[in-house]
Amino acid sequence: MCGIFGYVGRDENAADLVMRGLKKLEYRGYDSWGVAVGHRSRVVLERRIGKIGDAAPDLPPSAIGIGHTRWATHGGVTEDNAHPHLDCAGRLALIHNGIVSNYRELREPLLRAGHRFRSETDTEVVAHLIEDCLAATPVGPQQLVRATMSAFRRLHGLNAIAVADVATGHIAAAKSGSPLVLGWSERGHLLASDFSALLEHTRRVTFVQDGQAALLSRDDCRVFDAHTGDEVTPAVTEVEWEVAATELSGYPDYMTKEIHEQPAMLRRLAETGGEHAHRLAVMIREAADVFIIGCGSAGHAGLAAQYLLARVAGRRVTVASASEFPYLMDFVGAGALVIALSQSGETIDVIDAVRAARRRGARIAALVNVEGSTLWRLADLTVPLSAGPERCVLATKSFTAKLALVLLTAYELAGRAPEAIDLVARAGDEIERLLADDRRDLIRQIADAIHTREHLFVIGRGPSYPLALEAALKVKEVSYIHAEGFAGGDLKHGVIALVERGTPCLVLAPSDETYDDIMAGAMQVKARGAMLIGVSPTPHEAFDYHVPVADLGAATAILNAPPAQLLGYYLALLRGHDPDKPRNLAKSVTVK
Ligand code: F6R
Repeated sequence: MCGIFGYVGRDENAADLVMRGLKKLEYRGYDSWGVAVGHRSRVVLERRIGKIGDAAPDLPPSAIGIGHTRWATHGGVTEDNAHPHLDCAGRLALIHNGIVSNYRELREPLLRAGHRFRSETDTEVVAHLIEDCLAATPVGPQQLVRATMSAFRRLHGLNAIAVADVATGHIAAAKSGSPLVLGWSERGHLLASDFSALLEHTRRVTFVQDGQAALLSRDDCRVFDAHTGDEVTPAVTEVEWEVAATELSGYPDYMTKEIHEQPAMLRRLAETGGEHAHRLAVMIREAADVFIIGCGSAGHAGLAAQYLLARVAGRRVTVASASEFPYLMDFVGAGALVIALSQSGETIDVIDAVRAARRRGARIAALVNVEGSTLWRLADLTVPLSAGPERCVLATKSFTAKLALVLLTAYELAGRAPEAIDLVARAGDEIERLLADDRRDLIRQIADAIHTREHLFVIGRGPSYPLALEAALKVKEVSYIHAEGFAGGDLKHGVIALVERGTPCLVLAPSDETYDDIMAGAMQVKARGAMLIGVSPTPHEAFDYHVPVADLGAATAILNAPPAQLLGYYLALLRGHDPDKPRNLAKSVTVK
């Protein structure tokens, strides 16, 4: 949550450069944004509430700048609460991602010492703390980073901070928990919450480790142990993603782009995912107990994994939401395997759960998209989702990538790997057809028919149950229509009371052993006036609308995802919402 970006170098267009970086990071939070540059040894600042849009700040030329895009935690969405925050003298500009949990204790002595606070945030305390430490730190080339480390050591919570000293042309940063990446370019040095924001400048990056600090200047980029103050040699990595992968490339928005990237991605995974699936299958075989964790869509993929592993491979696993896993951890010990699912690799509930499981002796496997992310680095085995950057806040391609990898793993465990490779490739082809033929228009018509409704229910049984949960999540988070997914058998145990004439009900009815029972449930809601939207290989007279999907056996679960992605998308457009940045959400949930 929150995106941070900084630049110090040879180019005098720091404001423009920071704005471009912030646009790439906006998926992390879009309540407000701000940019600060140096001008005649003073900070010049522009902050605004709302999304960045086409804003072009009127800031002077400068070779040093930092910027922030906010997902509010402490203090309302106001310009005063937007970052960067300044020290009293207007020499330091500070940006922050995380929560300083002891900010009230830190603020009191600073107030007594005469520091003037201008916001309600936990962040501002850090700017004043560094100002204080700077006054007490011996003058020298490392003065800023020494003061920053000393302030950082007093912060409680998981934080990434970066502070520009425009008087000396340095940026110092430190982190514990929230992500921070340094970029090495010919034109200077950069930092960002996510390396995709750095790609237009460089693919040479350093992932700052927890408890490390950095000092950036035009000619130098140095890394320190923030606790001892000792300098450490930074590990420089060449990341694989190309800058083009982060651009819209002619699509109207990232959600459309990422939905359309699924066919090629699935065919790619069919070719390359087998090796990773093999390694994961070996770990599963060796484990005494297997747990799968994730949040949101990743949690739904975990639940789908439970069904696929049970039904295809006869393997029992325990699935939990990562945020609930700590309360179930008594059973985790040496011999256990925890498989963590996460697009960003930064979701704090996942990271915390993985660290706790590791302390108990469990091995960790991660299905993760973002290279170099915290989860990527923590895992004993990393299975890359290979989905490329996902910029829309909604998980689409990262969800189907997880399903594909789980399917490959389940078939590998069952000794039937070639079948899965064929299924995943065919799933890619089928989705390509769905996106190109008249089913897309049909889904647009369905959206048109239901976009004023208050509720939408989705039912599925067996492996389609997690897909029902995911379909409902896709619809509600982007259209704000209340949508709930249910196990087909559960609807009549209470929720059916909400069904009235015209209530839309999406029915996932694959040609498997769930078909008869799911259709029985569908008929019961139909009898109470529901409008049935069937997603099924088979037409049925009870369906008011029928979206035909192919019968691909266990891979039908993958095919059931895109119709709901498209439905959510069209509903969002019809209701006037931005599909890429739904209200209140952020893509990477790095705070508890
Ligand atoms: C839903 C969505 C979220 C994420 C969840 C976990 O469309 O995007 O529910 O799936 O926040 O995020 P990752 O996968 O990054 O751990």
